[in-house]
Amino acid sequence: MRTQPHHAGRRRAGLLAAVLAAGAALAVGQTVGQPEPASAATTLKALADAKGRDIGFALDPNRLTEAPYRQIADAEFNLVVAENAMKWDATEPNRGQFTFAAGDRVADYAATTGKKLYGHTLVWHSQLPGWASGLSGPELLSAMHQHIAGVAGHYRGTVAAWDVVNEAFADGGTGARRDSVFQQRIGDSWIEEAFQAARTADPAAKLCINDYSTDGINAKSTAIYNLVRDLRTRGVPIDCVGFQAHLIVGQVPGDLQANLQRFADLGVDVRITELDIRMPTPATAANLAAQAADYKRVVNACLAVTRCAGVTTWGITDRYSWIPAVFPGQGAALIWDDAYAPKPAYQAVSEALGGGVNPTPTPTSPSPTPTPTLPPPGCTVTYVPNSWNNGFTAEVRVRNDGPATVNGWTVRFALTSGQTVTGGWNATVTQSGTQVTARNASWNGAVAPGGTVSFGFQGTHGGTNTSPTLFTLNGATCRNG
Ligand code: G3I
Repeated sequence: MRTQPHHAGRRRAGLLAAVLAAGAALAVGQTVGQPEPASAATTLKALADAKGRDIGFALDPNRLTEAPYRQIADAEFNLVVAENAMKWDATEPNRGQFTFAAGDRVADYAATTGKKLYGHTLVWHSQLPGWASGLSGPELLSAMHQHIAGVAGHYRGTVAAWDVVNEAFADGGTGARRDSVFQQRIGDSWIEEAFQAARTADPAAKLCINDYSTDGINAKSTAIYNLVRDLRTRGVPIDCVGFQAHLIVGQVPGDLQANLQRFADLGVDVRITELDIRMPTPATAANLAAQAADYKRVVNACLAVTRCAGVTTWGITDRYSWIPAVFPGQGAALIWDDAYAPKPAYQAVSEALGGGVNPTPTPTSPSPTPTPTLPPPGCTVTYVPNSWNNGFTAEVRVRNDGPATVNGWTVRFALTSGQTVTGGWNATVTQSGTQVTARNASWNGAVAPGGTVSFGFQGTHGGTNTSPTLFTLNGATCRNG
């Protein structure tokens, strides 16, 4: 069961108003680098600038046309990292064919807004194109060198720091390397090969290793600690360590600061690179308050370590966070909610950065899914599939042809054998046998007369990607558009 907001153009009326009403959150146009008085009206950016630290966010450049997203991005952050646009599959989808269109939008955004650009990521086992994962050891090493030269070379001089190597260590308590294609086919040396290649490609960029579940002192973080110490002893160029901090509410490691400090003592910079703190959804006021305290702990831990360059959150709004798609039933992990209202966690980060103590806003629990009005008098469905090899996506547009607003919707249709839904957006999409059920998300349950709601899903198919033809909306059969 997955729900992922996906459509940049569809936004609630009044979102911008919600953002602007949250006056504490935004003070556009404040002078960069000037110490700010501790007041409610300052921005995270101004506060972080004054402390000489980075406050960053992961950017999806497709969202920049959405006014509240853009306004928060511009005002609140002094560092930007591409959430996906600079990864291997995005930048070199075919061997030797580099595509920088999306990555360049991120770099251009950083340049035009005066933000630091953080590079993510040069070598990662995930989001690795199929052509690369099929290579033999020597070929993979050569391709890795070429990829690093191509990407880090393209952004040479513009990226402050690169996640050169991402998630190279295994989960669990062993401290072992991850059994990735790089590890299997090249062996232990792949990491130092990557760092050497990155230094050659961009001598000015700081070069980092980045991982998750390494925020506290544990076997995995100690394995990275030992690696970093070894690399530095041997003169391999590594300058920084990223701690992703994809955390769970109530579970910030108590030794986070001590962990950051032990790495800093090796002579490298440290950074919180992908912070989010998830909870079961819908969020409760208690969890939102606990989350705020957790955010404050993380920011305070970074600030207490001189070599901690800053904190980056993995997105802006809960609306577009990766969490619900990967951890069904969890989310609300960022510091602005689905409607771009600042959460208690926003206030907590502000306070940690010296923004002064303000009254805690009343936590806003997401509005419950409206009760369906059954049955609607009529509907038209347009099904737009897009398939490749054994994968496909489909957008489903449902128009309300009736005279009354539909409040809450369930759309049902049947796939054919061999078609499997793997995720969805703008709806909770589930499959039982061949039957697929899509239920509205919390923000798109109301469809006015003549209005259209769009959702989609991705899936796999066994070779023939047949389109469904019979759709029902709240039990009533729709026309096909
Ligand atoms: O762009 C395609 C789109 O064309 C297609 O229609 C759609 C349907 O499948 O997929 C889109 O790609 C998705 C991509 O995000 C962009 O939205 C991928 O399916 C989806 O898997 C991908 O997820 C990203 C994930 O990394 C991939 O592993 C998340 O957005 C991103 O937040 C997440 O970020 C990672 C960091 O890079 C490393 N640390 C963990 C962190 C969270 O997983």
